[in-house]
Amino acid sequence: MRFSVITLFPEQVRGFLAQSITGRAMDKGIISLDTVDIRDHAINDYGKVDDTLYGGGTGLLIQCDPVYDSWKTLCSEEEKPYTIYVSPKGGVLNQKKVIDLSKKKHVAIICGHYEGIDSRVIDEICDEELSIGDYVLTGGELAACVIIDSVSRMIDGVLPNEDAYTNESHMDGLLEAPQYTKPSSWHGKDVPEVLLSGNDAMIKYYNRTAALVETWQKRPDMMNKLQLSEEDWQKAIAFKKSL
Ligand code: ADE
Repeated sequence: MRFSVITLFPEQVRGFLAQSITGRAMDKGIISLDTVDIRDHAINDYGKVDDTLYGGGTGLLIQCDPVYDSWKTLCSEEEKPYTIYVSPKGGVLNQKKVIDLSKKKHVAIICGHYEGIDSRVIDEICDEELSIGDYVLTGGELAACVIIDSVSRMIDGVLPNEDAYTNESHMDGLLEAPQYTKPSSWHGKDVPEVLLSGNDAMIKYYNRTAALVETWQKRPDMMNKLQLSEEDWQKAIAFKKSL
C-alpha cells in the first residue's frame, strides 16, 4: 500500500515512520511512504505558502495553490489517491475506519499548520476530513503518523501473524483482557489460575469474560454500543462479583 503525505515538515513524518514496525514494513516493500513538501510548490521564490485570513483573525492560512499543486504531483490520468485532510474538525478515527483505509491502494494525507488550509482546496480535493481526537495539535503531521501507523499494522505481512491484531482491543468492540507474563507471582499479585491451567476452552471463556469486564470498567461508553446477549451480561456480572 502506498502512503503519501503532503506537509511543510516532511522530515517529521519520515523520521517517525522509518523506525520500528513501519520502518521494517517499508524495507520489505509492503508499504511505501513518500512525502511532498508544500514549500516546493510555493507561490514565489521566497517560499511563500501562506497569507492572512480574509475577514480578520490571527495567524496565517496555507493558500490553495501550493496545496493543490503538491497534490497534483500524486495524481495521474487514471488514478487519484484517496485523499484525507487531517484536522480537529474531522470525524474521529476509530478501528473500523482504520480497517477500511487499509483496503485502499493509495492514501494521501494533507497536513495543515498554523491556522490550517484555505477551505476551498480542501473541498475540491479531499475525500474525507479526519481527526485523531478531540484536542488540537500544532500541526497535522502527528495525526498523519497515527493514521499511517494504525492502518499499516492491518496490512498482511506487517505484523508477524494475524493473531497479533485479531484478539486485541477494539477489534470486536471490546477492550482486550488484562495480560500477564512471568513471574506468575509478583509483589503478592498472582496471575489468574486459569491462565496457568493449559485448558484452552477455559482460557478462551476467561478471556472473553475478562474482556467484557475490562471494557465495562475502563470504557463504559463502549458497552452501550455492544450488542450483548443476556448470557454475556450474566457472565460479566458473575465475573465482576467474583473479583
Ligand atoms: N491537527 C490539529 N489537531 C488535530 C487533530 N486533533 N486531529 C487531526 N489533525 C489535527
